[in-house]
Amino acid sequence: MSLTDTYTLYNGVKIPQVGFGTWQSDGDDAYRAVRWALEAGYRHIDTAAAYGNEDFVGKAIKDSGVPREEIFLTTKLWNADHGYEATKKAFAESLSKLGTDYVDLYLIHWSNPIKFRDNWKEANAESWRAMEEFYKNGSAKAIGISNFRPHHMDALLETAKIKPMVNQMFINPSDMQPGVVEYNNDHDILTEAYSPLGTGAIFKIPELKTIADKYGKTPAQVVLRWSLQHGFLPLPKSIHEDYIKSNTEIFDFKLEDADVKTIDGFHGKAGLATDPDTTDF
Ligand SMILES: NC(=O)c1ccc[n+]([C@@H]2O[C@H](COP(=O)([O-])OP(=O)(O)OC[C@H]3O[C@@H](n4cnc5c(N)ncnc54)[C@H](OP(=O)(O)O)[C@@H]3O)[C@@H](O)[C@H]2O)c1
Repeated sequence: MSLTDTYTLYNGVKIPQVGFGTWQSDGDDAYRAVRWALEAGYRHIDTAAAYGNEDFVGKAIKDSGVPREEIFLTTKLWNADHGYEATKKAFAESLSKLGTDYVDLYLIHWSNPIKFRDNWKEANAESWRAMEEFYKNGSAKAIGISNFRPHHMDALLETAKIKPMVNQMFINPSDMQPGVVEYNNDHDILTEAYSPLGTGAIFKIPELKTIADKYGKTPAQVVLRWSLQHGFLPLPKSIHEDYIKSNTEIFDFKLEDADVKTIDGFHGKAGLATDPDTTDF
């Protein structure tokens, strides 16, 4: 197994099993981090319109010299831009900032933004209708959702002609969201694990260090390995070259089942998923 081994989405598109996160990486930090990530072997980069760094991510990809077609690039539709026309406009802006004529994956970032709280079903359906067009014309090789729970997905499927291929959600040992994962699995939707390190909070779990020491690994490596052993697709983020590199060294060991179970038991120790129906953004 390696960083560039892939999962296959239900439409046949292959997606590298570990992605590189860029939330809270502004400008030059994002540029440097993506360059280091590509040098370290990542071929899957996750950004979003809301991160404000698409132009820097796009430039880093260009300057890296890695051919565009070897990189799996994801971006996301922000909460202010739901609806058919707004989605078309937002997608065109993302492509322009990224300096590319297609993305590998386009996601609705949140299911129930405060701006559309009274009509979130219709707003998602209309965004999705635009995204189905991007998929059909090849400007998005795959389309999906993020922060969708089963009732949001059920609502989307009432009008969708094309099923989402991915659901990107908060998953780490502190919140495994089993009900949502089960729904994803039942519908052939790949589960991407965002905040796989709990945005840094998993390092506060002392038992994790004990397990990491047993394998001669870091807590970050153990948690990323745990994510892969569960069949998730983790998206670790860092702006430090040494972390970016060491977070890739997760293929030379395997967690024993007993340790996986112990880690499964860390629920609530490093934060919980945000409820998309009560967010204030
Ligand atoms: N769809 C969504 O709504 C959503 C929401 C959140 C995140 N995401 C995606 O998921 C990605 C990852 O989630 P995240 O940004 O919340 O964070 P994360 O990957 O869970 O954790 C990142 C934090 O851990 C630190 N870190 C990374 N590797 C480390 C290591 N080996 N040792 C010690 N510290 C380490 C980083 O530090 P430094 O950066 O200082 O190096 C940073 O503070 C995001 O960047 C984004 O692409 C999506």
